[in-house]
Amino acid sequence: MNDRRLLACAALCKPGRAVDVGTDHGYLAIHLVKSGICESCIACDINEAPLKSAERNILDAGLSDRIETRLTDGLDGIGGEGITNVIIAGMGGELIADIISRAEWLKTQRVNLVLQPMTKWDHLRQYLWGNGFTVTAEAPCAEGKFVYSVIQAVYSGERPTEDCDLSYLYAGLVTAETPDGREYLLRQASRLETVGRGLISAGKEEEAQKYINAAEKVRSRLEVKGWNVR
Ligand SMILES: C[S@@+](CC[C@H](N)C(=O)[O-])C[C@H]1O[C@@H](n2cnc3c(N)ncnc32)[C@H](O)[C@@H]1O
Repeated sequence: MNDRRLLACAALCKPGRAVDVGTDHGYLAIHLVKSGICESCIACDINEAPLKSAERNILDAGLSDRIETRLTDGLDGIGGEGITNVIIAGMGGELIADIISRAEWLKTQRVNLVLQPMTKWDHLRQYLWGNGFTVTAEAPCAEGKFVYSVIQAVYSGERPTEDCDLSYLYAGLVTAETPDGREYLLRQASRLETVGRGLISAGKEEEAQKYINAAEKVRSRLEVKGWNVR
């Protein structure tokens, strides 16, 4: 597999058993087992067609005895089973947060969550922040013309009393250590500025300033090496 985004997800997984939610083609599940990162995997999807394609690819890879497939919505009907990792990649941040919120066992088993939102990253980071999940790492990753950040999190039960900073909601723990990290920070700062400019046009000066300040804060990470918000 040479998909940089999925490789970044795999690099944040821990040994044991994984669930790949929304597996589609099954490439990540196959890579996790084939490369020895995980011993076994449950590859699930809400739709029959992608699950069939995953089943074909798993069979071709000779891994049907170690990767099982399940047709299900999110993590419904899955739980326990010695699961150490749950990966939810390639979906919107709101859907990812919704899937996590419906699976209480993720909390009691302190499962390693590997989350890769395509959109609404701010919603997902806010959800994690307010619901006792600690972000333990982020891996920025450029793939084609897009730049993503893969979020690793675990339930800790800690709920910070302070409000989550807007710059954190957009840029998480990403630092300027790598070219992908720098590109992610630049793009997130630019997104914050775009929202800010829209708010200025709408006459919402005070709200706009929050976005402009957050953009500056994200940009400052490009100057201060190793800066971290949490
Ligand atoms: C864009 S693909 C991402 C595939 C793969 N995870 C990746 O990152 O390359 C999204 C997949 O998630 C599946 N999906 C969407 N909503 C889902 C849900 N609620 N539960 C499980 N799978 C879902 C879709 O059927 C599709 O196969």
